[in-house]
Amino acid sequence: MKTLFWKENKLYLLDQRKLPHEITYVICGDHYAVATAISEMVVRGAPAIGVAAAYGIALAALQNQSSPEFLPALQGAGDDLIKTRPTAVNLRWAVKQMLVTAKEYATESKSVITTQLINKAEAIAAEDIKVNRLIGAHGAVLINDGACILTLCNAGALATAGYGTALGVISAAYTNQRKISVFACETRPYLQGARLTTWELSQAGIPVTLIVDNAAGLLFQRKMIDMVLVGADRIVSNGDVANKIGTYPLSILAEEHNVPFYVAAPLSTFDLTLSSREEIPIEERNSYEITHIAGVKITGDEIPVYNPAFDLTPAEKISAIITERGIIYRPDREKITALFAQDGEQDDE
Ligand code: MRU
Repeated sequence: MKTLFWKENKLYLLDQRKLPHEITYVICGDHYAVATAISEMVVRGAPAIGVAAAYGIALAALQNQSSPEFLPALQGAGDDLIKTRPTAVNLRWAVKQMLVTAKEYATESKSVITTQLINKAEAIAAEDIKVNRLIGAHGAVLINDGACILTLCNAGALATAGYGTALGVISAAYTNQRKISVFACETRPYLQGARLTTWELSQAGIPVTLIVDNAAGLLFQRKMIDMVLVGADRIVSNGDVANKIGTYPLSILAEEHNVPFYVAAPLSTFDLTLSSREEIPIEERNSYEITHIAGVKITGDEIPVYNPAFDLTPAEKISAIITERGIIYRPDREKITALFAQDGEQDDE
């Protein structure tokens, strides 16, 4: 089952709002449709929304074949797409890759630029899967036979172009014939854990047990957890991590109970322009996600709601970050700078 794919100049997005009960695709014919699909969670997960946005720029190019302001139109589409979800930095990363490609071919015809942009979006999608497999291979060594892993939200194939980050590590370990099992936090309010992670892992035959988010503490006390493994939406230059709301409390529990806390993420999730977690913008989503469950209202009228979608885990709480370039144990500014110094992967823009 593909999270997203490109066919006949349209982007097909697996509608994750309907999973696990219904498998349908939303077809996007322009970048506005992609932006709406990202804001409305048709597609979600930091790498997946980055890839979707890359295709969004390709769609904007197709739409603007007769526009005299072709490059500014692409820039405008990029701004529209970046605005949709402010925390996950992969979105901005992917849009930037696309706009750099457009500029590289700026002296060519619109149709040549457009072909290059479609190719680039396809390359970003393919690279994401390749990178996730590398993350999986590196991270699998951290999982001992028989380990019981706690995860939050969904950092699987559904959150990427394919294979997944944190769930990719779990799949790689499972493929290596290890007897592992997973506890998936349901992940209120959007229930990515309950709806998506349990579905993905069950389909792969990996033993998974669903818990409510509040049960995590008891599981640690009962020594039922050997490691925590989550994804990330943004990692800044000192190693602080933004990820789904509820990640930070798990890091505190892990520290208290001497359990390793691992983050799996591609280099495109790093934002070296920010130096610490306080600078990361936290997306606030609508109150409906909290006041309603599966469309049923559970609160009285007009109850004030605060719905931050992500929280911030300090680097000191993280045992290691698993990337496609290997594992950064006890991440800090120096180690992250060294990781990127290899090839000037990110600039300061
Ligand atoms: O709000 P979501 O579902 O987009 O949040 C997703 C997460 O927090 C994931 O853990 C993160 O994007 C990493 S996905 C590989």
